[in-house]
Formats: sequence, structure tokens, C-alpha cells
Amino acid sequence: MLDVIRLILLAAHILGLAAIVGTFFVQMRAKSGFSTGIVLGGAITQVVTGVALVGVHQASGHEVDNVKIAVKLVIAILAHVASRRGGRVRPAFHTAGGLAIVNVLVAVLWQ
Ligand code: HEM
Repeated sequence: MLDVIRLILLAAHILGLAAIVGTFFVQMRAKSGFSTGIVLGGAITQVVTGVALVGVHQASGHEVDNVKIAVKLVIAILAHVASRRGGRVRPAFHTAGGLAIVNVLVAVLWQ
């Protein structure tokens, strides 16, 4: 049962990732007028599903790398702040997109 919940959360986690990075790629060349609603939704999804994944992992007795999780959490929160505060200006929009990509690298390369 916990495994099913974990896989559903993981699917939501991947969709949240797509919402942030996909929206970023589409608007990467724009100079202004960024639409940030989907990025924000994705950033919130990542934090919520990420924390829930940690809970499910611990509940089923799996090891969780706390340092890796802490790094991902800080990066996800920074990306969220960037897209909230000034997501409509270019540097903040690129910071949010770039940080999400850094989190993909942390997730996949830090094993
Ligand atoms: C923009 C933010 C984020 C992105 C782009 C992201 C990306 C990913 C990706 C690509 C995976 C699959 C690769 C793997 O299993 O190692 C993953 C898994 C995972 N992520 Fe994230 N993540 C983000 C934020 C977070 C946060 C904030 C947390 C926790 C507080 C978190 C916790 C986890 C956990 C526990 C897994 C393992 C899932 C499993 O194998 O069951 N993630 N993440």
C-alpha cells in the first residue's frame, strides 16, 4: 500500500517538475510579460510531494539522505521565492527556472 502511495506521489513530483521546467523553457527567450502561475503551482507541488515522499520512505523503513533532501528543500524554496517575488522580471524568472534545473541534477546525480 505504501508503495502505491509512493509511486503516486512520485508521479505528481515528476509532473510538478514538468510544470516548472516546461513553462521555463517555453518562455526562456522572452524579455518580459512572463506568465508565472504554472511555475508557482509546480514549485508548491514539488515541496508538498517531496516532503510527503520523505515521510513515505521513512514509514516504510527506507533510508533517506537527509543532507540531499535538505539541499533540495532549500533550492525548491528559493525557486518558489524567486517566482513569487519577482517572477515577472527576467532575472527572477530565470533564477526560478535555473534553480529547478539544479534540483533535477541534485535528484538524479546525487546518489
Ligand atoms: C524544484 C524542485 C524539485 C525537483 C525538480 C525535483 C526532482 C526530482 C526528481 C527528478 C526525482 C526522481 C529521481 C530520483 O528518484 O532520485 C525526485 C525524487 C525525489 N524527490 Fe524531488 N525534486 C524537487 C524537490 C524536492 C523536495 C523539496 C523534496 C523534499 C523535501 C524532494 C524529495 C524527493 C524524494 C524523497 C525523492 C525520491 C522519490 C522515490 O524514489 O520514491 N524533492 N525529485
